[in-house]
Amino acid sequence: MAETILIPATESGAVHEKRVPEASVMVIFGASGDLTERKLIPALYYLTRQKRLPNGFSVVGCSKTPYTDDSFREKMRQAVAKYLNLPAANDPVLDAFLSHLHYIADDFGDPAAYTQLKELLTRLDKERGTGGNRLFYLATPPSFFPVIVRHLGDAGLSRPEECRDCWTRIIIEKPFGRDLESARELNEAVTRVFHENQIYRIDHYLGKETVQNILMFRFSNSIFERLWNRDSVDHVQITVAEKAGVGQRGAYYEETGALRDMVQNHLLQVLSLVAMEPPVSLDAEAIRDEKVKLLRSIRPLTVQEVPKHVVRGQYFAGMVEGRPHPGYRQEPNVKADSNTETYVAVKLFIDDWRWSGVPFYLRTGKCLPSGVSEVRIQFRPTPYVLFAAQCGQRLDANSLALRLQPEEGISLRFNGKVPGPSVAVRPVRMQFSYDAEFGAYTPEAYERLLLEAMAGDTTLFIRRDEVETAWRLVDAIRASWAGKPLTNREFYAAGTWGPVAADDLLAQSGHAWHEPVVRNDRAQAVNSNASEPERTPAAMTVA
Ligand code: BG6
Repeated sequence: MAETILIPATESGAVHEKRVPEASVMVIFGASGDLTERKLIPALYYLTRQKRLPNGFSVVGCSKTPYTDDSFREKMRQAVAKYLNLPAANDPVLDAFLSHLHYIADDFGDPAAYTQLKELLTRLDKERGTGGNRLFYLATPPSFFPVIVRHLGDAGLSRPEECRDCWTRIIIEKPFGRDLESARELNEAVTRVFHENQIYRIDHYLGKETVQNILMFRFSNSIFERLWNRDSVDHVQITVAEKAGVGQRGAYYEETGALRDMVQNHLLQVLSLVAMEPPVSLDAEAIRDEKVKLLRSIRPLTVQEVPKHVVRGQYFAGMVEGRPHPGYRQEPNVKADSNTETYVAVKLFIDDWRWSGVPFYLRTGKCLPSGVSEVRIQFRPTPYVLFAAQCGQRLDANSLALRLQPEEGISLRFNGKVPGPSVAVRPVRMQFSYDAEFGAYTPEAYERLLLEAMAGDTTLFIRRDEVETAWRLVDAIRASWAGKPLTNREFYAAGTWGPVAADDLLAQSGHAWHEPVVRNDRAQAVNSNASEPERTPAAMTVA
């Protein structure tokens, strides 16, 4: 059984639970890839340091590259040092962790490799005490998912064979399919071999502390939940902005684009947590039922409606952090006339009792001025009666911003009187900061998600109907773009807040984007005295 350690009460009397999962082996397919190096191995090492992994825990890496156990361990040592910014030598915890890593070279299609894997897993059970429990992790390009799953089934690895209490689970990375049809096919392929309760479809946004806090914040505070509806909320903005361009991921991105890469999963997941009804309990199914219900309530867009509700964009060469940045079409492995979108803004309506008529604006993009994710609840304004003479139309409406990253926290903006004899009002903020309240450490999403999968809790993973419902919405948008090249109004300079068409999307309803400010960016802007780069189509230099 998994061991649970209760950590002493906090100031408020709440008790933390520190779960140590049961002994197991994690098999990573795609072990030579970026995700393993950047996220999975650093997360597992960090969990080892925190004593959150069981003694009988091992990792088996599988990929095409011909490593030995030793060369794989060395590569992972460098990865931990690089991504956690630690010295690679003189760390006994890291040495011990690496000694539990093993490697099998496999092109994913050779049955012999799965026989070899099975033998290795049996040996690890005996020699390392891994208890017959297996966690498979598919971190390969998605086209390999079906073949790996089939071979796992054929090799008898999809069910625990030797003991009744053992478990076998599979984590599947995003993107889960590239449209509704392929997602259904993949679901069919996976469920032919694994039961739904063995399948963990991952969206790392659900592992972020601040995303989990959305439900906590909404349903443990009566003051906000009372306002969380069409009577008080004017509109909602969800921004997931990235400063980086596509970098070395051009080949992947050409196939994916921002709609599939970010909106279908991360943004719709955040939206469902912000807007769903309270679940009947905290059980995984109760929460997932409400999320699916919410996704189903999003008003579907017809092909004709998409141009009025959705804006796509692509960055051209510009300045990011004071340095020149190439356009998307000049990035490695990107076609010179690519139409792939690096930016999407969507206006959605949720046709349910709570939200009827309230616009939800979602946007995401690469090469924007800040790397920042935020949910902003914009409340309705007061009638302009009392302070009209002093403030005119400029009296701010209240808003609540849930900052998901960085500078994680929550801030409430309201109006206050400026001290002095005159009647002057200006917006002020009440601010909760995670760092100030709980210390600087915010756990990495993958740490939490790996622990949850090992503990058998599916709450933070995506159910089959959830993934399919999200694809239905996204497919309608993509269908409207099919065969239509990007127009001038759909380009934006790297380092600006997206195409001007995205401003018009909100302006139609009298709204405007709120650009979240990150303190570090502000400091940089002041130091470099940088002026806002041109973002009009006239300044466009598209290849
Ligand atoms: C990934 C996308 O799922 O999320 C990337 O594939 C994106 O394109 C990343 O950069 C963003 O994640 P985070 O945690 O850095 O906000």
